[in-house]
Amino acid sequence: MTSVGIDAIEIWTGNLVLDLPNTFAPVKGEDPEKYTKGLGLYTSSFPDVYEDIVTMGANAAKRLMVRKGLTPDDIGRIDVATESAFDNSKPVSTYIAGCLEQVFEGDFRHANKGERKFACIAGTQSLDDAYNWIKAGRNRGRAALVIATDTALYERGDPGEATQGAGAVAMLIDEDPDIVELSTEQGYGSMDETDFLKPNQQFPSVDGKRSMQVYLARMREALEDYESMAGRTRVEDFEYIPFHTPFPGMVRKAALLGFRHMSRDTEIEDKLAEEIGRQPREEQFDTWDEYEEAIRGYMDELKTTDAYREWYDRVIDPTLDISSVVGNWYTGSVHIARTSALKSAAEAGTDMVGKKLLVGSYGSGAQAEIHAETVQENWLDEMDALNIDEQLDARYEISFDEYELIHDVHNHEKEVEVEELTQPEEEFVFTGWGRMNERRYEYVE
Ligand code: HMG
Repeated sequence: MTSVGIDAIEIWTGNLVLDLPNTFAPVKGEDPEKYTKGLGLYTSSFPDVYEDIVTMGANAAKRLMVRKGLTPDDIGRIDVATESAFDNSKPVSTYIAGCLEQVFEGDFRHANKGERKFACIAGTQSLDDAYNWIKAGRNRGRAALVIATDTALYERGDPGEATQGAGAVAMLIDEDPDIVELSTEQGYGSMDETDFLKPNQQFPSVDGKRSMQVYLARMREALEDYESMAGRTRVEDFEYIPFHTPFPGMVRKAALLGFRHMSRDTEIEDKLAEEIGRQPREEQFDTWDEYEEAIRGYMDELKTTDAYREWYDRVIDPTLDISSVVGNWYTGSVHIARTSALKSAAEAGTDMVGKKLLVGSYGSGAQAEIHAETVQENWLDEMDALNIDEQLDARYEISFDEYELIHDVHNHEKEVEVEELTQPEEEFVFTGWGRMNERRYEYVE
C-alpha cells in the first residue's frame, strides 16, 4: 500500500518577539524563573500590525510551494486549521488561496478548501483528512496543503497571557513523503470538557489548572487506545515523542506519565526498582486516594533518576527547542515539536531514516490523539532547507509598552491606529477591509 505522510514543512513566525523573563515578568511583578524554569518559556512570537493568521499561513505556504517547485495545479486540497478565525462562514483557506494566486501562475479553482476547528488538535485532524483523502484514492495524483495558523492571544491579565504566541506551520501531505510516513494506527481520548473555550468571543475563557489535568487524562486514554490497535508501546521504541506544547512545562508532566506507562513491567522498571521501588499497582491499595498518593510519590522519585533524565534529555527535550522561544501556536504547536526534534537530530548528525516518532496531539474541549510516524529517506534535505533560525533571529524585540499596543491592535473589539514596528519584505500583508468587511491582502516585494 502507498505510504502517505508529510512531504515538506515550513514554519512562519510572527515578526515580533517579547522577552518573558526580562520584559514581561518584571512589569507583572513575577519571578523571571517562573517563566524559564516553571513554564519553560523564554520568549514568545507576536504578529506585527500587518500580520494575521492569513498572512502567516500564506507566507509559510508560499515558501513551501516555491521550495518544492509546485504550482496550484499540484494541490488538490487546502485545509486550514485555526482557532483564531475572524469569519463564521468564509474559511481562512479561501483567503490564503487568494493570496497565493497573486504570486503563482494558475489558480486553485479545482482544489477542495476547508477550515478545521477543534482547539489545538485541529492541525492534526487536518493531517488526518488529507491522509484519508489520499489513501482513498481521491487525490488524482495531487497533494494536500495543510496549514495550521493561529494568533494565540489571551485577555490581558489572564494567567494564559504568559503562554501566548503567533505563527503558522504549512505541511505538504503526499504519497511517498520525504519527511515522515504516518501510521494507520491511531488512538483517541475524547470527552466533553469545559476547560478552555471561546463561546463567540475572541479571547478564551480558561480554567488553567483544570486544563492541565484534562490534557493529561485525555492523553493517557489516547495512548491506551493507540496501544489497543498497535500493541504495547515501550520506552525504546521511539526516537522522539513530540507532544502538543502549550508551554514546555506541560510536556514535562506528560512525558513523566508516558515514561511510567511505557516502562511498566519491563526491564527498565526492574532496574529502577533497586533505586526507587516498583511502580504502585492499584490492587495494592484500599482506596483510590492512597493509590494516587503512592503514584505521586513514585513519580517525584522517578523524575530524579538518571534513567529518566537521560531519556527525557534525549527523547523529549529536543522537541521543545522552538516552542520555548515562540510560545503556544495552538494548532501548529505539535507540528513545531516534531520539526524541532528532527531539526535537532539533523544538527547532531543522527541517522533518523526508519526511526519512529510517537506524536501526541491535544485540543481543549477536549481530545487527544496519538499516532506513530516513520522517518523517511529525504528527511535531512527537508530539515536543511528550514530557515526558522534566521526568522527567529530577525524578529523585532518589543518593549512592554509596544506589547500593550500590539495586543490592542489585534483585539477585535478595539480600534487603534498604530504604526508597524517592522518593514515587511517579500511577504503577504494585511492592507485593510473591503466593501463587505472582508479582509484584504497584498504581496510586498
Ligand atoms: P500560573 O498560575 O500563571 O502559573 O498558571 P503557576 O503559578 O502555576 O506556575 C507555573 C509553573 O511555574 C508551576 O510549575 C510553578 O511551580 C512554577 P508546576 O508546579 O505546574 O510544575 N513556578 C516556578 N518555578 C521556578 N521558579 C519560580 C516559579 N514560580 C512558579 N520562581 C497556567 C499557569 C499554565 C495555568 C496558565 O499559564 C494558563 O492558564 N495557561 C493557559 C492554559 C494552558 O496552557 N493549559 C495547558 C493545558 S491545555 C492545552 O494545552 C490546550 C491549549 O493549547 C488550548 C487549545 O487546545 O486550543 C491551551
